[in-house]
Amino acid sequence: MKIFITGVAGFLGSHLADRMLELGYDVVGVDNLVGGFTENVNPKVKFHIEDCNNLDKMVELMKGCDIVFHGACTAHDGFSLFSPYYITQNTFQISMSVLSAAAQNNVKKFIYCSSMARYGKQEKLPYKEDMECLPVTPYGVGKYASEQIVKQICTLNNINYNIIVPHNIIGPRQNYTDPFRNVVAIMINRMLQNKQPIIYGDGEQKRTFSFIGDCISCIEKIIIHDNLNGEIFNIGPDEEFVTINQLANEIANQLNFKLNPIYVKDRPNEIKFATCSSDKARKLLNYKTQTTLSDGIKQMISDIKSKGPKEFRYNYDIEINNENTPNTWKEKMF
Ligand SMILES: NC(=O)c1ccc[n+]([C@@H]2O[C@H](COP(=O)([O-])OP(=O)(O)OC[C@H]3O[C@@H](n4cnc5c(N)ncnc54)[C@H](O)[C@@H]3O)[C@@H](O)[C@H]2O)c1
Repeated sequence: MKIFITGVAGFLGSHLADRMLELGYDVVGVDNLVGGFTENVNPKVKFHIEDCNNLDKMVELMKGCDIVFHGACTAHDGFSLFSPYYITQNTFQISMSVLSAAAQNNVKKFIYCSSMARYGKQEKLPYKEDMECLPVTPYGVGKYASEQIVKQICTLNNINYNIIVPHNIIGPRQNYTDPFRNVVAIMINRMLQNKQPIIYGDGEQKRTFSFIGDCISCIEKIIIHDNLNGEIFNIGPDEEFVTINQLANEIANQLNFKLNPIYVKDRPNEIKFATCSSDKARKLLNYKTQTTLSDGIKQMISDIKSKGPKEFRYNYDIEINNENTPNTWKEKMF
């Protein structure tokens, strides 16, 4: 079997490629390296540096592939409110290109990587797959809109499809130099440089963090099993629901760092409490959390230490730069 993975030089895509190779799949991968790194890509992957928005290229490179996993994205939830054109181009438009190429190539299965941003502002927690989606950011809207079109095109063309909804993944290889996303990685990178973590609002917003291995074990089952057509799955644990303050404390404890966070104005449209139920994954994918938050952080620290702390890279232009734009980004505070 041959699988086509977009975003293969990124965090999730590269780990998935490793696992699929282990399972004996041929892997073709694309990435334009806007957020990924060549060194993440397993040498056994047939790797193409290409922008997924190039439809003709996607059609050509996907030839002969049975399965498509579409993970390429500039997955910047909060930042998408300030660069909606660029971020939706790499969330929604990019998905249409990859989806169209998949249908043109008659692939057997299409797996779309959505995000918990699809749920948006809900009255009830935890988020369940069948809730009405109420996204509050361009990124969330882009993900949810893409899901609808994945459903339409795949159903019409008899392509099996699944939508996966990961949330706050952590683990080795996560980009730790992006100031616009990946809170755990940012905090570790700063503390290793002896800098206090920057926390938006009062730090009492709560999240559940998912270790990469726990996500990959679910995704591989979705890829392998053919009796799950059309199912949407939250991917990741629901056990440890922690505040950002608790998270900072845990990282500081592990690093023996004297913590005194810098608190800044909260970010527009940031959801205060967000966590996903893992019930459906437990039931249909035999999901069981293997790695605790503390162990996940330990592995990340060791990965970042081995590469060394680095300067943050402001790779993305702020399109809407006004009084709503967080100063952390305007003034390059990280
Ligand atoms: N990491 C998380 O916590 C999380 C949570 C929910 C959903 N997701 C989703 O998982 C997927 C992977 O996220 P990740 O955390 O691994 O991010 P990542 O940035 O590490 O990986 C995404 C990859 O996509 C590539 N890419 C972006 N735009 C591209 C384009 N136009 N053409 C080709 N390649 C392009 C980037 O270079 C990067 O390597 C994304 O779809 C994201 O929305 C991630």
